[in-house]
Amino acid sequence: MLGSLIPSSRFLVNRLLGQVDWSRAGVVVEYGPGVGTFTAEILRRLRPDATLVVIETNGDFVRHLRHTVRDDRLHVVHGSAAGTSEVLADKGLAHADYIISGIPFTTIPSPIREEILRATHAALHPTGAFLVYQFTRAVLPYLHQVFTLVHQEFEPRNIMPARLFYCRRHGDRRRVPRPRAPQNGHRARPKR
Ligand SMILES: C[S@@+](CC[C@H](N)C(=O)[O-])C[C@H]1O[C@@H](n2cnc3c(N)ncnc32)[C@H](O)[C@@H]1O
Repeated sequence: MLGSLIPSSRFLVNRLLGQVDWSRAGVVVEYGPGVGTFTAEILRRLRPDATLVVIETNGDFVRHLRHTVRDDRLHVVHGSAAGTSEVLADKGLAHADYIISGIPFTTIPSPIREEILRATHAALHPTGAFLVYQFTRAVLPYLHQVFTLVHQEFEPRNIMPARLFYCRRHGDRRRVPRPRAPQNGHRARPKR
């Protein structure tokens, strides 16, 4: 259930968090914070009036985070990502603007994986984004079952090179990077 014992590299953290528009990130949720590598960097970028909810199944990591990170914006929840909607409702939060996930989707039993993806879709604001990092592309078909738009990137500078997936709910194409212009001399199609 850990996926990896080695915390994510700063290259991976910076690349994934580069997808966040911090001016509109009022509520951010992180699944599987582990020892808090992403958590610390999210807090460094988060608005003073925003909220970060981290959801972690491992009690040791929960205790570690509660003892080491003191920040009024942070809520550390001991539980599963499958309960995200209930966790947000308990805190009086209607939606998450961003959900960031490093949980190992491919080793999680499929009913739980499906529950987590459904809960994620339901908890996200319609213009929100689900930002995922994994060590393989195996999660992609499951993401496509739930999200209309999934953009992929690759970060080799991590122990276990990482696949990144930026998922959006139907109809919102904001901040999904445009394809690069062709390198072979052909003109890009004009914008409509
Ligand atoms: C690969 S580690 C990620 C650690 C950290 N975010 C990092 O980037 O270094 C995956 C984490 O997901 C947690 N996890 C696994 N299943 C989970 C679930 N259903 N809900 C919440 N956390 C989960 C594990 O306990 C572990 O801490």
